[in-house]
Amino acid sequence: MISTEIGYTTIDKITVREKDLAKDLLGQVDFVEMMLLVILGRMPDAREKKMINLLLVTACDHGLTPSALSARLTYLGAPEAMQAAVAAGLLGAGSVFLGTTQNCAELLANAARDLRSEDSDEAFLACARETIRNAREKKQPIYGVGHPIHVHGDPRVPTLATISRENGYFGKHWRLMYAIEQVFRDEMGKNLPMNAVGAVGSIIADMGLDPLLARGFMLVGRAAGLIGHLYEERQHPIGQQIWDVVLEQDSRNEIPQKRRDAK
Ligand SMILES: CC(C)(COP(=O)(O)OP(=O)(O)OC[C@H]1O[C@@H](n2cnc3c(N)ncnc32)[C@H](O)[C@@H]1OP(=O)(O)O)[C@@H](O)C(=O)NCCC(=O)NCCS
Repeated sequence: MISTEIGYTTIDKITVREKDLAKDLLGQVDFVEMMLLVILGRMPDAREKKMINLLLVTACDHGLTPSALSARLTYLGAPEAMQAAVAAGLLGAGSVFLGTTQNCAELLANAARDLRSEDSDEAFLACARETIRNAREKKQPIYGVGHPIHVHGDPRVPTLATISRENGYFGKHWRLMYAIEQVFRDEMGKNLPMNAVGAVGSIIADMGLDPLLARGFMLVGRAAGLIGHLYEERQHPIGQQIWDVVLEQDSRNEIPQKRRDAK
């Protein structure tokens, strides 16, 4: 039999995780509670809810990122299909930006398997050195450090660390991420501060959640942000200007100037 434990629908009732959607959930729960009920099969406690809210807010927007640009340029070509533009913006949530949260949570969960939260700083530094060495051997970056813009440190990280501490989710994965940053800085002379991906990966791993959800929550949060970009794109479009920047780099191309002259 083809079935799901998430729910079922009959002619006059919609059941989600054994609750009546119309009577038990609508008007009773907020979006984060509903999302976690569907994903985890249970209601979150207050601390979990606060942390997942935090992750969604973190993911929602970061300006004209590759995902916002992809969405806006897709909308330029297909304004009748907002869903295609949102999908385009989410497709790049990979191992370099946005979706990297999953790679980072996986990396931390594997690397910190034998560590305990109360272990010494030296134990964390030793694990950090080994993690960096393993990544180098595989010619992989360490997910969660480095940033093309926030080269002096990602302003989101201290706030995410503080809220994790306040809610009891500053554990061994956070400590390992900070140890990695320290080894890069103090022992390798590389300025590679922790970025928001490192913080989100630490939070997901310290909450004991499946790393896949680190990417999942980024997709949910960023989908909301992209809708903001597309709503603005409809009212004040910039997609054509972005394309014009590329056209203008080719001195043979007079189209952008001609379009401006015609206005
Ligand atoms: C985000 C990222 C793509 C920025 O890359 P970038 O702007 O090219 O980084 P930089 O030019 O500052 O890199 C400087 C040096 O550090 C290295 N470096 C940068 N990030 C690194 C990382 N995460 N792990 C290991 N080495 C890294 C680069 O290879 C480069 O080395 P080199 O001087 O020997 O060539 C890169 O840091 C990265 O891949 N980070 C991991 C993925 C991640 O966390 N993404 C989320 C970003 S919010």
